[in-house]
Amino acid sequence: MEKFAIVLAAGQGTRMKSKLYKVLHPICGQAMVEHVVDQLEALGVSEIVTVVGHGAEMVEEVLGDRVSYTLQEEQLGTAHAVMQARGALEGKEGTTLVICGDTPLLTDDTLQQLITYHESIHSKATVLTSIEPDPTGYGRIIRNEQGVLERIVEQKDAETTELAIKEVNTGTYCFDNKELFEALETIGNENAQGEFYLTDIIEVLKVKGKVVAGYAMPDAREGLGVNDRVALAKARKVIQERINHRLMVNGVTLVDPQTTYVDVKVEVGPDTVIEGNVSLLGTTKIGSDCLITSGSRISDSTIGDSVTVTQSVIEQATLDNGSDCGPFAHLRPNASLGKNVHVGNFVEVKNATVGKDTKVGHLTYVGDADLGREINIGCGTIFVNYDGVNKHRSTVGDGAFIGCDTSIIAPVTIGKGAFTAAGSVITKDVPEKALAIARARQENKEKYANRLPHK
Ligand code: UD1
Ligand code: CA
Repeated sequence: MEKFAIVLAAGQGTRMKSKLYKVLHPICGQAMVEHVVDQLEALGVSEIVTVVGHGAEMVEEVLGDRVSYTLQEEQLGTAHAVMQARGALEGKEGTTLVICGDTPLLTDDTLQQLITYHESIHSKATVLTSIEPDPTGYGRIIRNEQGVLERIVEQKDAETTELAIKEVNTGTYCFDNKELFEALETIGNENAQGEFYLTDIIEVLKVKGKVVAGYAMPDAREGLGVNDRVALAKARKVIQERINHRLMVNGVTLVDPQTTYVDVKVEVGPDTVIEGNVSLLGTTKIGSDCLITSGSRISDSTIGDSVTVTQSVIEQATLDNGSDCGPFAHLRPNASLGKNVHVGNFVEVKNATVGKDTKVGHLTYVGDADLGREINIGCGTIFVNYDGVNKHRSTVGDGAFIGCDTSIIAPVTIGKGAFTAAGSVITKDVPEKALAIARARQENKEKYANRLPHK
């Protein structure tokens, strides 16, 4: 049977108390709704229609052409939302999955089980349910004595006895596509919230004598609907556990998985050890045999093999095999460290290349510069790259020795094997193998102290 999907994402999400559209709240590096679409794609759905509300251009920016869009002008309820997909899907032969953009934990496995069950019993509507120890806020699943699904009642419309029911609606359903759009026509809004409830479709189809069913999923945690920030944190924790589990199974040591924050797209090679309280974000790739210590935060960066990162912040940077940085290094966008480069404590590198075996040990700023190989950059060196209007670039040749506390006023070129004396302010190019001394000569005033009145 051909498979379609409708993602409901038009609700503002008032309970989030946010400027940001609910389904765009990020979880482990991607929007909630992207997690949902990932699972639908893994299922092999042939068409995904996303129902969006006004001001949801950002949803379209995030999902791009992975899905098609339909606008729900006013949020009149979930049935009304599904109705907006009519133009795209009505009359098509197949099975339609309806899923909320705020249930990011559902896996393709579970959705496939739902579809398989639905099709095997020739059901027209099958609702995915879960057993919740605390069912507050969810629609309750009403079954008769034989356990057959009767209807779904919303929290706000439920009677006391119904409120005690722990089987709830996850907001995910499987429909016979044709029956879905026919039945939607007859749903009204006479209820506590004055909304068109999709959940009423169960009764509508039942009255017509059609087969409807509830499929209780094995892991109730997957059904979590994110309506507020408390649930957002819960969802994040579950997705984090899944990501960390995948890393560990693939040979990465996580010293304390509970405090290791890794985004969905991050890749880490085997035998890399990641201590607790580390964040690996965005599109970061880390090779094998690395050590990333506590307090490091690495985003959108590429790190080779056998690299040590000690308590450092790295963004959009690359570190080649055998290099190391930190403690307290800051590698900013376009910092590129070659093989076996050492960047030590309190060093900032931005938009700069650092050649193989070069050492930048302490308290240094390397901005807008190209450094060759086997250079030693002394403590406190500053690449003075900014004149208040423009940024300028400097170059340091292979094997150069930059004395401590050198200011390199860009743009200058320091030749291969050249030296700068400690404390120099370099404003002119330095030829290969030359020593540049650019500081005042020292003068000693003999017995100076004796001339002071009180001495
Ligand atoms: C809904 C279900 C409830 C279920 C719960 C699971 C109904 C009536 N109730 O309640 O049984 O237990 O989900 O999480 O369906 N939306 C629109 N347009 C609208 C209204 C909602 O697109 O006019 C979207 C929202 O963006 C959201 C989803 O539909 O993604 C569910 O809406 P929400 O308001 O969160 O419904 P719940 O009250 O959680
Ligand atoms: Ca919800």
